Amino acid sequence: MSELGDLFLKRLAQTSDAPIALEISRAEGSWLITTDGRRYLDFIAGIGVSALGHGHPKVIAAIEAQLRRHLHVMVYGEYVIEAQVQLARRLTELLPPKLERVYFTNSGAEAIEGALKAARKFTRREGFVAFDGSYHGDTMGALALAGNPTFRAPFGALPGPVRHLPFADSRALDQIDSAVAAVVIEPVQAEGGVRIPDAAFMRSLRARCDDVHALLIFDEVLTGFARTGKLFALEHFGVVPDIIVLAKALGGGLPLGAFCGSDQIIGTLSHDPPLGHITTFGGHPLSCAAALASLDVIVKQNLSERAVTIGGEIARRLRELKTPEIKAVRAIGLLIGIEFADAQFAHRFVAETISRGVIINWTLNADNVVRLAPPLTIEMTEVDFAFDAMIEALDAARH
Ligand SMILES: Cc1ncc(COP(=O)(O)O)c(C=O)c1O
Repeated sequence: MSELGDLFLKRLAQTSDAPIALEISRAEGSWLITTDGRRYLDFIAGIGVSALGHGHPKVIAAIEAQLRRHLHVMVYGEYVIEAQVQLARRLTELLPPKLERVYFTNSGAEAIEGALKAARKFTRREGFVAFDGSYHGDTMGALALAGNPTFRAPFGALPGPVRHLPFADSRALDQIDSAVAAVVIEPVQAEGGVRIPDAAFMRSLRARCDDVHALLIFDEVLTGFARTGKLFALEHFGVVPDIIVLAKALGGGLPLGAFCGSDQIIGTLSHDPPLGHITTFGGHPLSCAAALASLDVIVKQNLSERAVTIGGEIARRLRELKTPEIKAVRAIGLLIGIEFADAQFAHRFVAETISRGVIINWTLNADNVVRLAPPLTIEMTEVDFAFDAMIEALDAARH
């Protein structure tokens, strides 16, 4: 290991005992280049962030133009920042009409926190409902929603009450009652193992929330921005939430989150007390400029359609492998889960694939499921490269 690698292990807080620890020199397109000159295909897009791959010229140009104008000038919500306003306008043009007002944050978890606060304030209720297998981030409120008790348990009392229901099971929906401020759901669970609910469940969930006057919050942090083959995953289900939470690909590679809802819901945060929900860096001008450029490319180049075509091809090839170790392939656009019969095998498969120059990983709450989520701009020659590596890795993982 290099001196830098040693320092990484010694001085940076670690998130596990087994970081991938690639020493990144630079990144371009779908590729990461390490300091020892090796090239890795980023088949997870930095976990759902790099929708346009790395260093897209339009995004870089927008960042450069903005950094020459100004960086931070004031905390969120005081000055009229052009990139921020234009991004809010563009997002609300693209979202269903009732999601008409945007609050910008720095991250997904922070946007979840804001959505939870807005829901409590708007409904004057305290309870939340979330789903088994869910992941919404690691701040205290987001963690309280986490659908895997292993991650909640060590941290003591978390904001609540939170009731966890089985995912995509309409029979459990009568447990949503009039004590509930909001139900928070990922329209497709990514960290839960790429689980895709049917539209009937989503419509029943919407109807139940309406019946008991609970808000419905869609966490589209990972599914947003064409990842699932629609600009927003809500379009698959014909259901409009009261609040949508966005982050990851939103910022075009820079940190940015947002939660959007009606004037009435988001407006509760501006009074009683005023300044009761504020942020210094939320909606940073550089991030908003990058986001606008990235969104423009996603829409103009119809990358949703590309996600459907290329994702469909990847899923078809995976299903054709017909290996006994693979139990199921679940795919929606360019979000693909390979469910293995055995988690240990899945882990060996991931390690072998990475050692052949293709970055993939397993999902947080289902470690027998390996996730593929390449940039939406991935080329078919790169898909071929990934398949060569994965087929060899399957074989190596058997021995
Ligand atoms: C669905 C979902 N929600 C929320 C988050 C948290 O976002 P962040 O890591 O930006 O706080 C994530 C992050 O992986 C996520 O996948």
